[in-house]
Amino acid sequence: MIKDKHCTLAIESSCDETSVALVLEGREVLSNVIASQIPIHQAFGGVVPEIASRHHLQNINKVVDQALMEAGKKAGCPVSLDQVDLIGVTKGPGLVGALLIGVATAKAFAMALNKPLVGVHHIQGHICANLIETPDLEPPFMALIVSGGHTCIAEVETLQRIHVLGETRDDAIGEAYDKVARVLGLGYPGGPLIDKIAKEGDPTKVAFKRVLLEKESLDFSFSGIKTGVLNYIHGEKQAGREVGSTAVGAASVADVAAGFQQAVLDVVVAKTMTAMARSKQRTLVLAGGVAANSKLRGMLALACARTDIRLCVPAPVLCTDNAAMIGCAAYYNHKAGRLDDLTLDAYANLPLDTI
Ligand code: KG4
Ligand code: ZN
Repeated sequence: MIKDKHCTLAIESSCDETSVALVLEGREVLSNVIASQIPIHQAFGGVVPEIASRHHLQNINKVVDQALMEAGKKAGCPVSLDQVDLIGVTKGPGLVGALLIGVATAKAFAMALNKPLVGVHHIQGHICANLIETPDLEPPFMALIVSGGHTCIAEVETLQRIHVLGETRDDAIGEAYDKVARVLGLGYPGGPLIDKIAKEGDPTKVAFKRVLLEKESLDFSFSGIKTGVLNYIHGEKQAGREVGSTAVGAASVADVAAGFQQAVLDVVVAKTMTAMARSKQRTLVLAGGVAANSKLRGMLALACARTDIRLCVPAPVLCTDNAAMIGCAAYYNHKAGRLDDLTLDAYANLPLDTI
């Protein structure tokens, strides 16, 4: 307890961010330390699982110490491990070696402190970022989850009962952003770089295919768009209009990035609004790393305002992988009686509707 409030210590290590947070009463963030490995993986153009695990192992104890120290500063009194009431940790999906570092650390704390332990589904965590951002938000609501590993539209009946209505059949949207950024020579991670450069481009200059699948389907497919961008670049080169060149009629890199972004987001927003029209829910929450995208936020805000839907969007720091969202989910799972023991494992794949 800290000032008579329930305190969760949460750990997130599913990919390339080692994060530890202290969260009071599920929604009040005392600290949320994120040690990013992006500069390490940049040289490889993507996350190298073995390297990620090693860095989690090197970082985790330091990040715990920093989270306690920052929590103390915010609380105005020293915060120590014996004030923690609950340990929450991401159990999957993600890179299994990376997840195991968080899970093993959480189990060690739970045993040493004799405190309850709760494993959290990473995507449930992303959804819960909205509960931190929007204090009066309660389920049921609809959620659009867009990240580097997931893309789905779901109905959140309760935080433990999440029904997937549509999902990607191949690449996640963040993966498409990262692959297209690589093709365009922009660097890693590609999402924020495309977000930025697309602002200088003309989204109508290059029209990429909008993949809608079957008429009624809320599923997505993003694996073809990288090939679409590659084919366009090669075709233009052969026609003497290399992308980024000064040749008459040549598109800039910013035009191609803007055209790609418009194509994927037109589909994402259209399917989300179809899901909203079919549902009785009037609140939509946005979640996942790609939720930080400025164009997506703008397009959804407009579409929701037109249809009188309440849109909840987390601050960028809560969109990216972070432990505060895991602490929030752990608190509510614990309240709902979902407890784990020291047999808790890490899972590379974990369906969202089995929480
Ligand atoms: O949720 P997240 O941090 O990790 C996963 O759970 O996958 O999402 C990471 C993904 C990456 O693909 C990254 O390129 C993308 O989110 N991303 C963005 C933006 N910021 C991060 N994509 C588009 N626009 C952004 N501003
Ligand atoms: Zn994530």
